[in-house]
Amino acid sequence: MEKFDVAIIGAGAAGLFCAGVAGQLGLRVLLLDHAPKVAEKIRISGGGRCNFTNRELDPRQPHKHFLGDNPNFCRSALSRYTPADFIELLQRHAIPFHEKHKGQLFCDRSAQDLIELLLAECAAGGVQRWQPCAVQAVGYSDADPAERYQLQTDRGPVGCRSLVVATGGLSIPKIGASDFGFRLARQFGLDVVELRPALVPLTFDAAAWAPFAELSGLALPVRIATGEKKTKMEFLEDLLFTHRGLSGPAVLQISSYWRPGQPLRLDLHPESALEPLLLEAKARSRKLLANELALHLPSRLADTWTAQQPQWQRPVSDTPDKAIAQLAQGLQRWELTPTGTEGYAKAEVTAGGVDTRQLSSQTMESKQPGLHFIGEVVDVTGWLGGYNFQWAWSSAHACAQAL
Ligand code: FDA
Repeated sequence: MEKFDVAIIGAGAAGLFCAGVAGQLGLRVLLLDHAPKVAEKIRISGGGRCNFTNRELDPRQPHKHFLGDNPNFCRSALSRYTPADFIELLQRHAIPFHEKHKGQLFCDRSAQDLIELLLAECAAGGVQRWQPCAVQAVGYSDADPAERYQLQTDRGPVGCRSLVVATGGLSIPKIGASDFGFRLARQFGLDVVELRPALVPLTFDAAAWAPFAELSGLALPVRIATGEKKTKMEFLEDLLFTHRGLSGPAVLQISSYWRPGQPLRLDLHPESALEPLLLEAKARSRKLLANELALHLPSRLADTWTAQQPQWQRPVSDTPDKAIAQLAQGLQRWELTPTGTEGYAKAEVTAGGVDTRQLSSQTMESKQPGLHFIGEVVDVTGWLGGYNFQWAWSSAHACAQAL
């Protein structure tokens, strides 16, 4: 049996980073992954440039950008390894990056830069990486503390003192996602908070969506909200129409808060009220209402929307004030209820996960001694914009200090 201080299952963002830090602290580290290619999710993230962190993250107020049964769970790890710490690591490796929208940081060249950084950190720590290598079974016995975990793997048995689970969520199964981490948690008596796709496009009943399906590919800035009073969440972001429903940053963000049966409320012209603009046009213009509307909204949207009612298919000067008010209200208080999501095949992350009540926020160790969970497998879900990778780095770093 090969012996290690720690075995880490999952060579994604969290596993690679944890392995490098632990190795450089002097531990004998084995990193295992069943996928043939390393860190595929990093490679495809951020449109190939990986949005690796966010400058607006405030570790003192994690509930602003993270969801989960206890959003404050991530405060300690995020405060001890911050976006500034990760930026410093990139600078040490001379990786160029830039800021886009709302504090989001991306690699200038490609996400491959980041994968190479992580592999270089692992090499500096003498980490052994077995990939592809599947784990068939994990056993525990406290007879010998140096080998309390025994792994049956494709490459033979392994014994280790600590076991770190960094197998991520269920999103994008075709590049290696599995439920291994959740099954292992249950094997050791740990609870898993209900899993659901998050940061995911939303879909609608095909017949009800038919009039909007032709808008597929159209993007525009909107205000989007769901929930009421205390549970209300709202984003001002871009919306994208698709054949089956809605996507784009606005919808991905709200999808993490949306629950089946709940309506969404959209304002398709969030910068100002449309009704006074159209009433003012009525006094001076003989154009069709759709053409006046197209001065404020994309013309494809103006055409599709006004096609819904004969009273909107006239010159603006002949349109009754009441019809103008109805049109403006429909566009600015558009209420619609998704029938579902595009599921794990399209979701950027999985909400829910290993229950944080059974993990230490300092070390990520579970109530099962020596068994740690880091990254997306934990019930911590970040907003779109680099928050999920920062959670992977911060939870991995906190864990590595404690192995
Ligand atoms: P990750 O999923 O990275 O790694 C898990 C690893 O475990 C994988 O390598 C997998 O093969 C392995 N594994 C799974 N089951 C196993 C088993 N049974 N045995 C062995 N190995 C196993 N976030 C962000 O902050 N900024 C962004 O730009 C993006 N962009 C983005 C785009 C797309 C298309 C997706 C799908 C996701 C994003 N994300 C993102 C989310 C981000 O990718 C995600 O939160 C992190 O990769 C999570 O890191 P982990 O290391 O926890 O899991």
